[in-house]
Formats: sequence, structure tokens, C-alpha cells
Amino acid sequence: MKDDIAKLFDLAGKVAVVTGGGDGIGKGCAEILAAAGASVMVSDLSAEKARVVADGIVALGGDATPIACNVLDDGDLVNLVNNTVETYGTVNVLVNNAGVGGGGREDPFKIDRQYVERIYNINVIAPWRLCQLVVPYMAKSGYGSVVNITSMSSVNKEPDMGVYASSKAALNHLAANLAYDFGPMGVRVNNVGPGATRTHALESVLTPWLQEAMLAHTPLKRIGEVSDIAGAVLYFAAPVSAWVSGQTLFVNGGGVQTMGAGTR
Ligand SMILES: NC(=O)c1ccc[n+]([C@@H]2O[C@H](COP(=O)([O-])OP(=O)(O)OC[C@H]3O[C@@H](n4cnc5c(N)ncnc54)[C@H](O)[C@@H]3O)[C@@H](O)[C@H]2O)c1
Repeated sequence: MKDDIAKLFDLAGKVAVVTGGGDGIGKGCAEILAAAGASVMVSDLSAEKARVVADGIVALGGDATPIACNVLDDGDLVNLVNNTVETYGTVNVLVNNAGVGGGGREDPFKIDRQYVERIYNINVIAPWRLCQLVVPYMAKSGYGSVVNITSMSSVNKEPDMGVYASSKAALNHLAANLAYDFGPMGVRVNNVGPGATRTHALESVLTPWLQEAMLAHTPLKRIGEVSDIAGAVLYFAAPVSAWVSGQTLFVNGGGVQTMGAGTR
């Protein structure tokens, strides 16, 4: 019986690509997918961070390959997919994790058009482009699952978060629509929307005051850990969720955590 449960989460023989896998949530995703048996392409803007994470996985007996990839660079995205296919033969799981912005720092009168274009390029256009590149391989292999890391911000309404929040809302809706395009090809697309999760990105904006304010609206009374988010990503990546597509799962301790309110 335990074997049947293990099979539902088994990714042995599957190939996963994680963007922004060198730190934080992406690192946690790379590690849990490798622990489930996947061969993981750990990609990050920082080649060094990707290498450290891949080395850590290999040291624990897993299979991982590091690669530098700036998701803003279309050539890097093509190179990431080509390298993955050359190394492992296909792509079965894509975690679109690399994302930037938010933190209550988007006063509409202090940011410029370049900022907005950059956030949308990283948070929306890169995930779309990677889907376009990997889904044909997923379809051919007979197993495909895309998991986008969105955010509680995608449904929250608060000051100084308009660009990040709307980009993550776009990502939610992109998945819900792509689920129709890719479903007939046997490929699923889902989102995990973290609440405040302890990473370097969060620590750069988390003041004691903000933490207290967020926990007041968090029934489970703690900030999230990377492992909380990685578990949800494994659910969507693995066969256990074989009939789940186009969904967004918020992993946030319950309630409504907001990031930006009051940081102005
Ligand atoms: N931490 C949170 O509280 C939280 C909450 C909601 C959503 N998220 C989302 O989770 C994802 C990961 O966030 P995190 O907190 O782990 O961040 P993080 O800063 O801890 O790690 C992000 C990683 O992405 C890499 N990266 C940055 N720009 C990149 C680029 N252009 N191309 C490739 N890699 C790049 C960085 O080098 C870093 O290794 C993001 O999409 C973020 O929006 C985080």
C-alpha cells in the first residue's frame, strides 16, 4: 500500500527544469523534484548559485545539472531547453520560478516604463516562452507538467504593488488558458501562489512591523518556509495530480497575507 502512495509522487526517469533554481523557492523546488527521482536542470541567472545547488543534489545521490540562464534573454531560454534535451533527452516538468518585483516598492510615480517592461518580461513573457519551447517535448514524451510560481499578490489589492501583482495575476490567467491549449497534448499547467515565504527576497523587505501585520491575517501564525511551497510544486509535478490543470493553489498559512500595505 505504501508503494502505491510512493508511485503517485514518483518522478524517476522524468526530467525537470527549474528557473531561478539557485536560491529560495527555486532551490527548494529543484531539491524536492530531485528527491522524487527527477533529473533536474538547475538554471539560474547566477551560474555559481546553480552549481552549488546542483552539487548539493548530486552529493545527496540525486541527478542534477547546473546551467546559467537569464530568463530575460531569449537566447538563454533556447539554450536552456536545447541543453536539457541534449543532456537528458526530453523535458517533462517545467517550474517557472524566476520572478522579481513587488515588496511594496512600486510607487507608480517613482517607477518607469523600463521597470514595468522588465517585471512583465521576467514574470509573464519568459514563462510563456518556455512553455512554447518545452511543451512539444513534453507532448512527445507522454508526460508533461508546467508549474508557475505566482503569488498571493496576484489576488491581493494593496498600494505600491500594481506591476508585480498584475504580472502574477497575468501568470495565473495564462496557466488557466494554456491548460486548454496543452491539455489535449497531455500537458498540464498549474500555479502555486506563495504567501510570504522565508527567502532572501522576502528578507530584503520584511521588517518586524510588517511581519506582525502579516501574521495578524495568517491563521497558521507563521511565515512560510521554502519546503511549504516545494511540497505544493511536487504535487503538481507528480502523477498524483494527473487530472488537475489550469489551477492556482495558494500556499499561505490560510487567510490573506499582504506584502505591500504600509511599507510606503
Ligand atoms: N519569497 C516570497 O515571500 C514569495 C512570495 C510570493 C511569490 N514569490 C515568488 O517566488 C519566486 C521565487 O522567489 P524567492 O523569494 O525564492 O526569490 P529569491 O530572490 O530568494 O531567489 C530568486 C532566484 O532567482 C534568480 N533570478 C533572479 N532574476 C533572474 C533572471 N532574470 N533569470 C534567472 N534567474 C533569476 C536569482 O539569482 C535567485 O537565485 C518568484 O517568482 C517570486 O515572485 C515569492
